[in-house]
Amino acid sequence: MRKSTIISATIAGFISVPAVASADELVLYCSVQEEWCRLMGESFQRETGINVLMTRRSSGETFAQLMAERDQPRGDVWWGGTGDPHLQAAEEGLTAAYESPMMSELQDWALSQAEASGNRTIGIYAGALGYGYNRDLVDDPAPACWADLLEERFADDVQVANPNSSGTAYTLLATLVQIMGEDEAFEFLGQLDQNISQYTQSGAAPIRNAATGETAIGIVFLHDAVAQAVQGAPIGSVAPCEGTGYEIGSMSLVEGGPNPDNARLFYDWALSPEAQALGAEANSFQVPSNVNAPVPPESPSLDEITLIDYDFAPYGSSEVRQHLLARWDAEIGSQR
Ligand code: F6P
Repeated sequence: MRKSTIISATIAGFISVPAVASADELVLYCSVQEEWCRLMGESFQRETGINVLMTRRSSGETFAQLMAERDQPRGDVWWGGTGDPHLQAAEEGLTAAYESPMMSELQDWALSQAEASGNRTIGIYAGALGYGYNRDLVDDPAPACWADLLEERFADDVQVANPNSSGTAYTLLATLVQIMGEDEAFEFLGQLDQNISQYTQSGAAPIRNAATGETAIGIVFLHDAVAQAVQGAPIGSVAPCEGTGYEIGSMSLVEGGPNPDNARLFYDWALSPEAQALGAEANSFQVPSNVNAPVPPESPSLDEITLIDYDFAPYGSSEVRQHLLARWDAEIGSQR
């Protein structure tokens, strides 16, 4: 009965949640891949007997949902998704401060999210941005840099998500701005637009489409490209030569949510090594934030990738995120 609640909710992609949930419920807003969201909900429910009502939406979409519900919050926990909109939610007062006893087990990069937000969000995993390509569709030489994506041979054969809905795509935008400078980044995105066949809603959709041959290249987090390769798709991964950004996937408690005690229980559990080990079971290969959680052997090693010094506080601020998204809409999105 409880299991079917979760499954029917996720298949529909939307659940209607009562304004005041009952004491044994948890309303989980989830922004990772569906399979992992479902496994987290089911596992927590099995361990605690608390009925989990889960909705999966991309990072920017979940942020927008919290904004829309700010006067009558319906969610309890926002688990997963890129850190920037979690920081923005903290700044907007949409999420609640909490210091979990599990904090002592976390990597410094996970704690830095808490420091930047007055403990309103925390890191649960990390992963580097890059792109994946279908080996059957891309001739040698394989692309290796961001600049290679502008080549004419990739006309209409690159996909990336829309940065309004997707945290992955916002990470790309913020990464290019930090590598090139803002005007140059928009110049680059304008040129790249000529090779883009589709801006998807969800961040990982481009690499799923590359796996099926619908597109040659998908700009995604590298762990999402690896997930396709692990499942047998002919997908190669590229950590771009100019350097790349990364995410601190995050978790936040919803301010004023209907089940705050259950929310804190979930929060503490989700930071445990056992809960974090569920990612690999769900074909998700991010680097976990608990130092005692096993790092999946498939996880792209962050030490071997040229990472930029991604400046999370400004790029997760309302001012900068709103500005960059408005400029993307004006110069890229609205030109389609
Ligand atoms: O679960 C895969 C993943 O890439 C996460 O690492 C990331 O936080 C999330 O998806 C971003 O999804 P979206 O771009 O759809 O917001």
